[in-house]
Amino acid sequence: MATASFDAPQYPMARASGCPFDPPPAFTTFREAGGPQKVTLFNGKPCWLFTSFADVRAVLGDNRFSTMPSTPGFPMLSAARDAVLQEAPTFIRMDPPEHGKLRRMFTKEFMVKRIDAMRPRIQALIESLYDAMETKGSPVEMVNDFALPLTSTVISEFLGVPAEDREFFQEQSRLKVLMDVDPEIPRVASAKLIGYFDGLLKAKERDPHANDDLLSRLVLDQVEPGHLSHDDAVRHADLLVMAGHETTANQIALGTLNFLQNPDQKALLLGNPDLLRGAVDEMLRYNSIVQFNGARIALEDVEVNGHLVRKGEGVFALINAANRDPAAFARPDVFDIERAPDNHLAFSYGVHQCLGQPLARAELQSVFGSLFQRFPTLRLAVPLEALEFKGGHFVYGVETLPLAW
Ligand code: HEM
Repeated sequence: MATASFDAPQYPMARASGCPFDPPPAFTTFREAGGPQKVTLFNGKPCWLFTSFADVRAVLGDNRFSTMPSTPGFPMLSAARDAVLQEAPTFIRMDPPEHGKLRRMFTKEFMVKRIDAMRPRIQALIESLYDAMETKGSPVEMVNDFALPLTSTVISEFLGVPAEDREFFQEQSRLKVLMDVDPEIPRVASAKLIGYFDGLLKAKERDPHANDDLLSRLVLDQVEPGHLSHDDAVRHADLLVMAGHETTANQIALGTLNFLQNPDQKALLLGNPDLLRGAVDEMLRYNSIVQFNGARIALEDVEVNGHLVRKGEGVFALINAANRDPAAFARPDVFDIERAPDNHLAFSYGVHQCLGQPLARAELQSVFGSLFQRFPTLRLAVPLEALEFKGGHFVYGVETLPLAW
């Protein structure tokens, strides 16, 4: 195993002040040192950080690294995160073959063809939110008045969750993933969400033909024939709602900021609509919002590009470091929509690669294919320095985004 070249620093570490879009500068130092670097976690336990593109992809693609938090020695980010991860798992925290068995129950729902059929509805929701912005008048706050209403309405309609419960699940999902808080806060939020989805699934089980939505189809295809228990259906409904709205909302807000900070890229996109798909992938790469992802534990001795990780050792394969590796992306710290990266790791890699990526892409392409056409003079209503970024959240973003035009 590579030896640490200096005293093991504490992980997570902060981003540099003044560089809200860049990952912590220590990641560059670690990557340049070569191989994994030893860090210390909040509970004093050691762990390895992988920061190069090649290493991160190798770890994420290797099923000898487990994502199961119940494995002794699994690396934890904070006491609050530990509390939530000790609960009964969904497939995001399962290993093959159980992972694949459960994931396959959902894959047809997220096929590109099915998601493409949702595009007209997504665009109509976006247009109605633009109308509301115009009615309200400049300035508006984009996170709560546009991004979250859009993504949570899309996921609610898709799953069959009543629209009027949007604020409840938005708030509880937010609390559930806070990292630097009393563990009771995420634990209580999680219990409330499970209680809520338990009631919702019971209603769907009573009359699964009443609505044509994902959760009703899950009841008919998996719960009724006995392939999936009620409790597992409840936990997976929670997973899909959680994973499906705040991520994309944060990416919408940060993507908007990326264009406002880089007016040349905004002009380029407006003049070349063909760049849209690549631009969305570039904002995914550049921001890599799932900032603390990649916790794994070695189930046996594993060699990663010449570095030995011993059985029982914890690792983090850092997506946001990998996506800024100059060996994989020229001038990685530049937001360049013409790069159109098709190999970035923002949706992870390997068996746990994001199931919802066709939906996230459809939403992002619909937003960024129309936002600056509809509001060509859009600008930040406050200085960049006044914005509060979500440094301590599992998913990176900005708390509020006041915009004017
Ligand atoms: C910009 C938006 C999004 C980003 C950047 C993103 C990123 C990710 C990442 C990095 C993972 C891997 C997590 C891990 O290994 O621990 C993941 C998994 C997952 N995502 Fe997303 N995601 C986004 C949107 C969505 C949406 C809209 C859904 C829809 C429900 C979704 C559902 C899932 C699910 C179910 C998994 C677990 C996959 C598995 O373990 O097999 N995501 N996502």
